[in-house]
Amino acid sequence: MTVSQKKYKIAVIPGDGTGPEVVKEGLKVLQAAAAKFQFSMDTAEYDFGGDRYLRTGEVLPENAADEMRKFDAIFLGAIGHPDVKPGILEKGILLKLRFDLDQYINLRPVKLYPGVETPLRDKGPKEIDYVVVRENTGGLYTGIGGFTMKGTPHEVAVQSMVYNRHQVERCLRYAFEYTRKFGKKSQGKGDYNTLGLVGKTNVLTYVFDLWERAFHEIGKADYPDIRREYYHVDATCMWMVKSPEWFDVLVTGNMFGDIITDLGAITQGGMGIAAGGNINPEGVSMFEPIGGSAPKYTGKNIINPLASICCGAMMLSHLGETEAADAIEKAVMDVTGSKLKSMSAGKMGYSTQEVGDLVAERI
Ligand code: IPM
Ligand code: MN
Repeated sequence: MTVSQKKYKIAVIPGDGTGPEVVKEGLKVLQAAAAKFQFSMDTAEYDFGGDRYLRTGEVLPENAADEMRKFDAIFLGAIGHPDVKPGILEKGILLKLRFDLDQYINLRPVKLYPGVETPLRDKGPKEIDYVVVRENTGGLYTGIGGFTMKGTPHEVAVQSMVYNRHQVERCLRYAFEYTRKFGKKSQGKGDYNTLGLVGKTNVLTYVFDLWERAFHEIGKADYPDIRREYYHVDATCMWMVKSPEWFDVLVTGNMFGDIITDLGAITQGGMGIAAGGNINPEGVSMFEPIGGSAPKYTGKNIINPLASICCGAMMLSHLGETEAADAIEKAVMDVTGSKLKSMSAGKMGYSTQEVGDLVAERI
């Protein structure tokens, strides 16, 4: 009997700086998982990034989003180039792809792996283990605003936090579904699955009023099994440091999500390990490390590839290859727990390639 093998088409965007180095290790581990769990991956590489922009003057080809729609997922390294003015590549490539592909969720787990050092005193893998669901296409990132009287002492600049009910609702529904499936209770780690809304209802009395009403309406009607909490964003930052064990799944708007996930990333060991996914639950999703292109480490074979490797696990989990995703995560935990001296570039005790090998050989 022949069993037809699952085959995934993956677009690979290595990008700038250390992006290509970490992506190479991420793909190495993905291919090892594919061999073990009997699926296959066809990859096609795209050279979007700073070098291409400097060479051609084009940030992103016109048809890039359409091209990306042909794939099952996108695997991205890093975007950002020291010779390009900040904002051009970030907005022109990263945000453009997120928006054009309507990747309205940014999923960012905050999980401390065994052996990884955290700056939080007396906290370990048991305490630091939650997930942030960041809304990824609206809010302050919508780009509505402008200047008037620019360059004069009376200059006015406006940038608006814009949300409509539809955007808020689809993000909340994703977060509730995610909590039901992956919350602490479903993992056998607690008595409840809890979704916490992070906002600022005491000051942003329009936008977060909308979020809060939608949160409770949807929760009450369709997710009565999920415990609902509300936290102000400033207090959330405090608790992320003081009592991260309180959190299960958090959901928030785009800007707050951007900020609190950098804080979360540093508590889980920093940019070398923090992974994220830009998700369109009905379309093509893109997986990318939270960290940037780290130009000063480029080409030295010292950058930590684990964030990219963990992105690979997230991508497989999203594609439904749960067993393979779990195997990668377990292999990563074994490597952090028994091998690496540090998560920082140049201090791991192994090269970028060797870390990739260590994980791959454990699959
Ligand atoms: C991130 C980054 C991006 C963002 C930038 C580079 C546009 O900080 O992925 O968190 O703000 O979303
Ligand atoms: Mn960010």
